[in-house]
Amino acid sequence: MPETTWWKRGIVYQIYPRSFQDTNGDGIGDLEGIRRRLNYLEWLGIDAGWISPIYRSPMADFGYDVADYCGIDPIFGTIGDFDRLVEDIHRRGMKLILDFVPNHTSDQNPWFLESRSSRTNPKRDWYIWRDPAPDGGPPNNWISNFGGAGWTFDQATGQYYYHAFLKEQPDLNWRNPEVQAAMHDVLRFWMRRGIDGFRVDVIWHLMKDAQFRDNPPNPTYDPRQGEINKTLQIHSTDQPEVHDIVAGMRRVLEEFEDRVLIGEIYLPLERLVAYYGENLEGAHLPFNFQLIHMAWSAKEIADLVKEYERAIPEGGWPNWVLGNHDQSRIAKRVGQAQARVAAMLLLTLRGTPTMYYGDELGIGHVEIPPDAVQDPWEKNEPGLGLGRDPQRTPMQWDDSPNGGFTTGKPWLPLAPEAATCNVATQAKQPHSILSLYRQLIEFRRQHRSLSIGRWIGAHADGKVFAYERRHGPERLLVVLNFCHEPQTVSLPDDAEQGRIMLSTLLDRQDERVASTVELRMDEGLIIDLG
Ligand code: GLC
Repeated sequence: MPETTWWKRGIVYQIYPRSFQDTNGDGIGDLEGIRRRLNYLEWLGIDAGWISPIYRSPMADFGYDVADYCGIDPIFGTIGDFDRLVEDIHRRGMKLILDFVPNHTSDQNPWFLESRSSRTNPKRDWYIWRDPAPDGGPPNNWISNFGGAGWTFDQATGQYYYHAFLKEQPDLNWRNPEVQAAMHDVLRFWMRRGIDGFRVDVIWHLMKDAQFRDNPPNPTYDPRQGEINKTLQIHSTDQPEVHDIVAGMRRVLEEFEDRVLIGEIYLPLERLVAYYGENLEGAHLPFNFQLIHMAWSAKEIADLVKEYERAIPEGGWPNWVLGNHDQSRIAKRVGQAQARVAAMLLLTLRGTPTMYYGDELGIGHVEIPPDAVQDPWEKNEPGLGLGRDPQRTPMQWDDSPNGGFTTGKPWLPLAPEAATCNVATQAKQPHSILSLYRQLIEFRRQHRSLSIGRWIGAHADGKVFAYERRHGPERLLVVLNFCHEPQTVSLPDDAEQGRIMLSTLLDRQDERVASTVELRMDEGLIIDLG
């Protein structure tokens, strides 16, 4: 695989389709809306869009409950809309990645309807059915990720089925070869329609313990983390056999040219990197969410980057993520000023960056009034701050009503600042965070040391993190001030002077620096040492 293949050098941009652009006034985004906003994505400079699920779904978990893997949900449009989107995106030289949800289906999926119809139905074993425990209760202590038991009793057939998420999301039995074959055909279906790759939902969940042993209690459980954290999910997730399943998907992708397999995996580093697979036959990019959970400190992030660089198997390609539809927005986590530093970090580390729509505007936490709550997790475990609606609010395009997102009533409220914080306004402001993102993306495209060069740690203390990126004769130093006070930082010993190429505050271009550099509060710099 050449170093320059698109998913290595490129930038992925996640679109939450319900919230990107509505074109039919129902208050929910659609495929035609995404197509009409391709000018924006092209202008921003991203290489690939990843769209969260658009398949036919009862929307119990907003599309992560699939009733038909090869059909588009009417809320999002038609297969014709989909084909037009693929064609338009490719015409512009960009790629399209779909979300693939193989761990569970909707309880309305015809496969599950058959499976639950009788114990002898040929699809019975496509799902995970178990007899009750001797006391009539669930077969083991596995908990749903959204709270409550992970098992639901089916009166008609007298058994429980397992669901790692909602009871409307029964888990498929990936030990069954028929399930594997059916799901592989789904991948082929979309690749034949031109899709460039998949982000695979909860890929580390696909295999469960063959003996269905109880999970052990979590000694550090804090009820504010949600019920799922009562136990350690060591038997319900991340089983050794899962790697064969991932490799099986990868083989299907290899039947086509130049496709990418991205895996959603929330695991500690050493277990995460196993998903590259033995001999790199697993996921191309096991999503690296470490920045999401790390304290925002220069020292800790420097240690993390070093550790990650060390942990990746030879030939494996790194990747970085700051946010997604399940996590609080980066601007909420680190504040507006540091969100700019975070942007420079994301776009200058080694590896494929994934951006989350709206982060380029600095959208922060959006307060959702109780009567507007949509997320089933918030409904199941209210008031703990677990709900994901605040990071799923509609994109803010301009200062028209509803930010130009819809002419109807938006399915979630927009951020109150939408009239001033939006694409049209920020695009005209040379110092906006949107302008920063755009310049960073452009700069990354022009400098191969950033997209494919080596990463070399330079300096880390409690306040500043600095590293170099090198490729051929090019030598760039990235210096990030993680705190709200100015800092003075020495250039590396073997660099006498440098020239500032880009500041997160967008005003120091071409300034010369010699031996030391002054960083303003919350400032990040890219310095040419070449
Ligand atoms: C993944 C998705 C999340 C969904 C869950 C169940 O974590 O990102 O949104 O609720 O899987 O499919």
